[in-house]
Amino acid sequence: MRHLLIGIGQLAHLDDGTTGLILGENMKNDEKLVSKGMAILIENDIISKISPEEELIEEFLPNYKKENYQNSKVVKEIVEKNIKVTHAGGNSVIPGLIDSHTHLIWSGDRSNEVSMRMKGMTYQEISKAGGGIKYTVNETRNSSEERLIELGISRLKESLRNGTTAIEAKSGYGLNAESELMLTSVMNDISSDDKLPSIDITWMGAHDIPEKVNKKDYIEEIINIQMPEIIQQGFARSCDIFCEPGWFDLEETERIINAAKSSGFSTRLHIDEFQDGGGAELAAQMEVETGDHALFSNPEGRHLMSKAGVVQGFLPTAPFTMGLKKWPPIKYCIEEEMPWSIATDFNPNCRVLSLPSVASICVQRLGIDPLSTLCAATRNASQSVIHRTEKEHGMIKEGYLANMNILNGDKWEGWCLQLGTSPFSATILEGNTVIHK
Ligand code: NIG
Ligand code: FE
Repeated sequence: MRHLLIGIGQLAHLDDGTTGLILGENMKNDEKLVSKGMAILIENDIISKISPEEELIEEFLPNYKKENYQNSKVVKEIVEKNIKVTHAGGNSVIPGLIDSHTHLIWSGDRSNEVSMRMKGMTYQEISKAGGGIKYTVNETRNSSEERLIELGISRLKESLRNGTTAIEAKSGYGLNAESELMLTSVMNDISSDDKLPSIDITWMGAHDIPEKVNKKDYIEEIINIQMPEIIQQGFARSCDIFCEPGWFDLEETERIINAAKSSGFSTRLHIDEFQDGGGAELAAQMEVETGDHALFSNPEGRHLMSKAGVVQGFLPTAPFTMGLKKWPPIKYCIEEEMPWSIATDFNPNCRVLSLPSVASICVQRLGIDPLSTLCAATRNASQSVIHRTEKEHGMIKEGYLANMNILNGDKWEGWCLQLGTSPFSATILEGNTVIHK
């Protein structure tokens, strides 16, 4: 089916003629990355043509009557002869957002931890007292598969409402073969629904050490039991490890990465979330896909990652929700032309599914410009999130997946200035318009 998107205010397409990661000053080049007066032809789930609006109207809507398509600020869907039309109401359009780091599937409530934090307990101390990941593991193991599917679907709907069209999601609240396999299977079930954002699945058996299990034994279990079973199941593309003093150290992490690579996994890491534990240097040495958090990494480690092509996946809502007085050095990474992306890190301790809210922290707190922030949540994030269709995404470009967001205003910058509610009036997901009510 042909589908025409017209009535677009500004179009932040992010296509400057290059593909892949975009770095440094290029990320804020609005002359190249934003245009006006364009319309978009979609065929099935693909953007097939981006041209001046008059040209596409002349070609595909010969009986076009302007009065039927007034700029009422409201997104309208109209079915014409042989073509479906979405009129964006003069609102601006940006690419579908890509959440490149989430812990989507878990159950239980850790709201009680806020009082521990207020007494001055750190994340590590709360974990030692039986809270944190271990608590969520118990709750998740005691949940039925149906309940976890229900939770996952409702979270994905919330992501979509906030403009996310694809996510990466990790297991890691099972911590034994049976439960980890169940979590990846839950994600696989949900990800087959094309009315929801696509999921790129990561296995994270090395998220913590289960209670009453010796760490050495657990690492053997990860490598010799979980890993082959996850590979045989065939749902997870990547393997992630919580590389942090107190969890998996550099040597242990290296061992797991090596085993994962030889089993055919792509690899990604949680590094330097609470202190500089040398995670950045290891991420660079092992050439993993992304080094996430990277909050306490040192400049040398960041340069090594950059040289090795490792994307720094910044998760500013993690220190925000934990009350840490530290933000990722995004300005420095822009100056040094290092690759970076942003994501939500959605987890029981960081209950954020809205990328526009993460972006608001970057823009309104850290002073990063809205266009670089948008590139980080789309183009750059797409490099570590494979869409289930295996088609290109992250830009509004001919030949790319038709995943886009229509804002609730005529200026594209509005995508990252609205906290608590979604700034989008509609999302086009794989070519289909979902009007947000
Ligand atoms: O990325 N640090 C490890 N994993 C998550 C937190 C998980 C949890 O607290 O449940 C993170 O911050
Ligand atoms: Fe995380």
